Amino acid sequence: MAAETIARVTIDTDDVIAEIPRTIFGGFAEHLGRCIYGGIYDPESKHADQHGLRKDVLDALREMQLSVMRWPGGNFVSNYFWQDGVGPRAERPRRRELAWQSIETNQFGTNEFVDFCRELKIEPMLAVNLGTGTTADAARYVEYCNAPPGTELADLRGKHGYPRPHAVKYWCLGNEMDGPWQIGQLTAEDYAKKAREAAKIMRLTDPSIQTIVCGSSGPWMKTFPQWDRTALELCWEYANFLSLHNYATNWENDTASFLGYANEFEHHIDTLATVLRETKQKLGAKHDIYLSQDEWNVWYKDRKFDGGWRVAPPLCEETYNLEDALVVAQWLNVFLRKCDVLKMACIAQVVNVIAPLKTRGDDLLRESTFYPFVMYAQHARGKSLRPKVDVATISTKRFGDVPLLDVAATVDDATKKAAVFLVHRGQTETLNVEISFRGANAPAKVAASRQIWGLDPKASNSFERPDVVAPREVGAMPLKNGSLRLKLPPLSVSVIALYL
Ligand code: AHR
Repeated sequence: MAAETIARVTIDTDDVIAEIPRTIFGGFAEHLGRCIYGGIYDPESKHADQHGLRKDVLDALREMQLSVMRWPGGNFVSNYFWQDGVGPRAERPRRRELAWQSIETNQFGTNEFVDFCRELKIEPMLAVNLGTGTTADAARYVEYCNAPPGTELADLRGKHGYPRPHAVKYWCLGNEMDGPWQIGQLTAEDYAKKAREAAKIMRLTDPSIQTIVCGSSGPWMKTFPQWDRTALELCWEYANFLSLHNYATNWENDTASFLGYANEFEHHIDTLATVLRETKQKLGAKHDIYLSQDEWNVWYKDRKFDGGWRVAPPLCEETYNLEDALVVAQWLNVFLRKCDVLKMACIAQVVNVIAPLKTRGDDLLRESTFYPFVMYAQHARGKSLRPKVDVATISTKRFGDVPLLDVAATVDDATKKAAVFLVHRGQTETLNVEISFRGANAPAKVAASRQIWGLDPKASNSFERPDVVAPREVGAMPLKNGSLRLKLPPLSVSVIALYL
């Protein structure tokens, strides 16, 4: 009889990577397709509150425990003039929206977005237009949002019903300015000069803001990571974050490779961490710059970009399946393992457009990817730990040999809880795992455990069958002498929550 295969995970609560910034659980909402109109904002819906926000969507977003939300784009922002979206709604212009070939009504603008964030108790993260917009306009936007009453734009905000400053902390200096698809695409040098001047005068307007410099649009860009290096060298003095974007794809329908994606996510962050270290050293800079992965998700099934000059056309409405949920879980594992350098991340996007939530009329669907996000946001608290994993590998076309297990672990002194997050990449066999805890704060008891799993990587939720891919509670698990044993089903993500 073949010996039982077993994976061993060792977690030492003293082997700390860093405090987990809540800002790694962020979202992104763009004026693209039905994300804003028909997703977040839908005054015609029976779920609309007094501001036109969909209460069912707000409730689901609350479940995701988001900490920050990026807006209004994305590619949209590179030709967006914030003045169009403030003031009396009846007077706001309808415009041809060039990034997505749609009609923008401007019924949802900055003040509505800030209200939406306040309703969810999350930090707004605004992007300024560095495509067709000017640096002066970016600074005027900061004045409109953040200045105390007494100057023209602060008083304009007051006239619009918001006398108190919005105190918006996070500001993105444009979006994907290296991309040929971007309205107003720039070379690295030209972008860096423009972003630097914008950040300088935005900070002169409000010194408390934090700025995010555009890095490359993806690790696959030919100018990566030289673009990032150039942008950092010129902007360091006025920057707090470097942005990175990436979308995972499975065009080849190769599940084994797709499930190895953590490899790429980790390498992407490691490369940029090196660029950050080297640039700081070269400049003799005093402050650190951290990474903001302010667009990440699985995206390849619906690549419709042309809205046909309609208002809120359905674009990029991906249906997510089990293997996508496991890739999302790995991405969250990577964020936890890299949170010493990556301090912000926004899932792109939150509703309808490549999103964990989908509306159809007054109905709302939670896609498969919604659930791992909720499981992690709920349990990953306190400090991220460095797990040691001893497990067999599987061979993949795209990433070579990849471990069968992808693991992250956390411990929280405040709530006296710990958590272990395990993605099992095996597609057919159950994997026996032994987890051993060490250290001063080693857990004493399992509190609960939840699992998402299935045998069909393509299984997905639909309005008719909404719970095909959803977490299930796992039975009690004894923790003896600091160790516990469990069986991980194939194609699974598990969260084990423990008491210290
Ligand atoms: O999230 C969809 C689009 O993807 C964003 O507008 C853009 O920044 C990225 O290319």
